[in-house]
Amino acid sequence: MKGVVLAGGLGTRLGALTRITNKHLLPVYDRPMVYYPIQTLVDAGIREILLVTGGNNAGDFLRLLGNGEDFGLKHLDYTYQRGEGGIADALSLAEHFAGGERIIVILGDNILERSIGAYVERFAAQREGARVLLKEVEDPWRFGVAELKEERVIRIHEKPKDPPSPYAVAGVYMYDTEVFDMIRALRPSTRGEMEITDVNNLYIDRGRMHHDVLEGWWTDAGHPESLFRATALVRQKTRAGRGDAIGAEPAQVQ
Ligand code: DAU
Repeated sequence: MKGVVLAGGLGTRLGALTRITNKHLLPVYDRPMVYYPIQTLVDAGIREILLVTGGNNAGDFLRLLGNGEDFGLKHLDYTYQRGEGGIADALSLAEHFAGGERIIVILGDNILERSIGAYVERFAAQREGARVLLKEVEDPWRFGVAELKEERVIRIHEKPKDPPSPYAVAGVYMYDTEVFDMIRALRPSTRGEMEITDVNNLYIDRGRMHHDVLEGWWTDAGHPESLFRATALVRQKTRAGRGDAIGAEPAQVQ
């Protein structure tokens, strides 16, 4: 299984923070944001990883990450997305890298508390199709949201005004080799992007979508509030992992 980290796009929701650098290079506690999705793939046993970058700072990723030595990797692959054509557009650039193998995709601003290893194993046991991870959240309208019927996902709605459930679709997607043909068949959405939710709905229409409900916390870090929340969550986890004594109180996270 190969892994793809999508860190393209322009990250404009962070205003002046991203005027001279890329969102995924901003700090989340003690590391640049992009370290977390890469680590999530590595922790799931994935050793062949492609990073899709974009914008004006693509060279900075190379200087920062090199061949992935910080993650115990021997090599990292890179490719470049022009403009901000959407998540599915960024993923289309991974076709050559995938080389006919199945892929685990993670968004460059998604941070998870726990390993995705068990979900990847379940995907590996699937004969075909796709797998997404759902998480119950308090603000589902910010995400792709799953509509469920008898424990099956029957539709995913992108940023719905009236969410059909509290289950957001996390930015971790597992696809068989059909995904690239599906992207070719897509048309841009009303916001001018090739939507990953449209890809997922094609899998649902074909009866080939599976899902798990994520354990542990999950957050994006692409908005001022979620970037702050991500930093606080990672700080808590890191300090707990180190067994830091309670002294300087960690930031409170709801
Ligand atoms: O965080 C999970 C959510 O991510 C999902 O629930 C949504 O269904 C999905 O559409 C996405 O929503 P966002 O609006 O948060 O996506 P955003 O445009 O912020 O992009 C998330 C990451 O995807 C970004 O950090 C880098 C990558 N990306 C995005 C775009 C638009 C690219 O690589 N290229 C792009 O053109």
